Amino acid sequence: MTNIRTKAQIEKIKGAGRIVAACHENLRNIIKPGITTLTIDKFVEEFITSHNAIPAQKGYHGYPYASCTSVNDEICHGMPSRYILKEGDIVKVDMVVNKNGWMADSAWCYAVGDISVTAKKLMTVTKECLYIGICKAIDGNRLGDIGYYIQRHAEKNGFSVVRDFTGHGIGNSMHEDPAILHYGQKDRGIRIQEGMVFTIEPMINEGDYDLYVDKDNGWTAYTSDGSLSVQYEHTIAITSNGPEILTEQEF
Ligand code: MF3
Ligand code: CO
Repeated sequence: MTNIRTKAQIEKIKGAGRIVAACHENLRNIIKPGITTLTIDKFVEEFITSHNAIPAQKGYHGYPYASCTSVNDEICHGMPSRYILKEGDIVKVDMVVNKNGWMADSAWCYAVGDISVTAKKLMTVTKECLYIGICKAIDGNRLGDIGYYIQRHAEKNGFSVVRDFTGHGIGNSMHEDPAILHYGQKDRGIRIQEGMVFTIEPMINEGDYDLYVDKDNGWTAYTSDGSLSVQYEHTIAITSNGPEILTEQEF
């Protein structure tokens, strides 16, 4: 069942979204060669708790950290570690904030120092995929329209869309109906309606979309071919004026 949220409820989710966005704005200045992904996670946890909110990923199905920090060929659910980021890496930082029972979710990709031309292009195209998907998230369209246009843009640029992870409804819990696929066919799927709140979070691979999950930690997904993967994610609300991004950062 898809929850339809009132304007007042959407404002609460936006309250959580502002904390997520502000945390990401800070990470731009923190992420550089020489720091560990655990340092990122420590900052995220302290930032969220200092805003009287809860890092909702910590403890979620036993996940032990406030953030996921996925480096290079790690698609998502990378575990913060003592790994020292080096020039040329890319790192995706994903977090969910629970503020007074309302949640917002956003992942962002950061370049560590100077990165390759390919990595830059993959970051640009993936961010475009996210915003193309958001533009299609209007009352009256169908969910398939979001996936179709994201897939088209990724593949037109020679990249592939990860199939095994999707966006999701969000509100009082982190993952609610419906699932938001980042590939598919237009005019298919359920109708998008005012009051829906969900994430769009395309994971786009440089090579093939095949993946495997780390057997030791049970969480981290890697590209099977070792190629780079990029993700950007926003939480959005469907309003009568179109999509409203609840986790938008200041530029
Ligand atoms: N934030 C992720 C998402 O976009 C969920 C991460 S799973 C967790 O859906 F266990 F790390 F929380
Ligand atoms: Co999400």
